[in-house]
Amino acid sequence: MTTYNLLLLPGDGIGPEVMAQVSKVLDALGRAGIARFETETDLVGGASIDAHGVPLTDAALARADAADAILLGAVGGPKWNGVAYDNRPEAGLLRLRKDLGLFANLRPAICYPALADASALKRELVEGLDIMIVRELTGGVYFGAPKEITVLPDGTKRAVDTQVYTTGEIERIAHVAFDLARKRSGRVASAEKHNVMKSGVLWKEVVTAVHAAHYAELELEHVLADNCAMQLVRRPKQFDVLVTDNLFGDVLSDVAAMLTGSLGMLPSASLGAVDAKGSRKALYEPVHGSAPDIACQDLANPLAMIGSLAMALRYSFGLGEAADLLDGAIKDAFAGGARTRDIAAPGAQAVGTAAMGDVIVAALAARIV
Ligand code: NAD
Ligand code: IPM
Ligand code: MN
Repeated sequence: MTTYNLLLLPGDGIGPEVMAQVSKVLDALGRAGIARFETETDLVGGASIDAHGVPLTDAALARADAADAILLGAVGGPKWNGVAYDNRPEAGLLRLRKDLGLFANLRPAICYPALADASALKRELVEGLDIMIVRELTGGVYFGAPKEITVLPDGTKRAVDTQVYTTGEIERIAHVAFDLARKRSGRVASAEKHNVMKSGVLWKEVVTAVHAAHYAELELEHVLADNCAMQLVRRPKQFDVLVTDNLFGDVLSDVAAMLTGSLGMLPSASLGAVDAKGSRKALYEPVHGSAPDIACQDLANPLAMIGSLAMALRYSFGLGEAADLLDGAIKDAFAGGARTRDIAAPGAQAVGTAAMGDVIVAALAARIV
């Protein structure tokens, strides 16, 4: 049985609570003889600031670099509002993404029929929804320079963030989106704002060129990002693969989350380039944050985190069957009526974070036998 080395970075707020459920699932997969996982755990975000004074130590980064894959819970929270900007919890996550070259962030938004009534939209608009958002993750306004606040001669201040994209950065994320579309419905929508941004002009031009040169058999549609947000709410099933930049991808994926029932349902994979040996660096994390409002109350939905493990099995370890088992266990849990509070009907009985983890482990065991 192959042994995989996983680095767990639970982080802050609900991060450790949802990561604890992943640990149960990893143990269950090991017991079933599907794969053996050697896990190491380290600190990121506020937890690392408290222990070491920085949101990610060089040692933790080196461990992340050496691992077969990384699972991250969430970072941030009001406790660290006062720390220096460059040292804030989120900077640890951004350093991991940038230094490991994790440029391709896949955020699948799937609405399980059992959850359609938990969606913010009507059942008929979302039932069967299956969108793959492909977010560029190491460029754009997140990392462009200058990024600063300066004081003007009159004493007022001026804040600058810089959106930068190069041809190469756009080409490689476009390839990821088109390659995924080939295995799906063959449709890609590309969202930018070429009507106001130079980076949008280049984005549209490069995506068009990559399409024409390599994927002419696929359908490509360009959509302005503001219209895209509206279309996601108006008629979300028109989209299949949706490729966009770092900031628009952040916003549009939170919108897409509510179509599926809850932000607590959306997993993600952040992938690097494929190397000469055919492997790639990868970090898996829920789309949601540390949810300070519900932390330490056993209220968090762990399914985005468990779904992120399923993506790790599929994309990093080639364990597609195990990933299918885990996705099936999630469906079985819903069929059995298990719902955390965020996806339960108003007034209905809900289960806690740990109990949902136990339900998934039991459903998995039942499928394996
Ligand atoms: P959030 O995603 O943490 O929470 C937004 C809302 O969704 C809250 O009401 C929360 O209770 C709910 N929610 C989120 N995850 C849930 C889950 N699993 N189950 C049930 N409900 C859930 O966003 P926020 O409140 O804007 O940010 C809080 C902190 O998290 C900030 O410091 C932010 O920077 C950070 N953050 C981190 C990540 C990450 O680590 N990847 C992602 C987003 C936000
Ligand atoms: C996300 C988060 C992060 C982002 C923050 C915490 C840096 O919102 O992963 O969606 O903006 O990318
Ligand atoms: Mn976000």
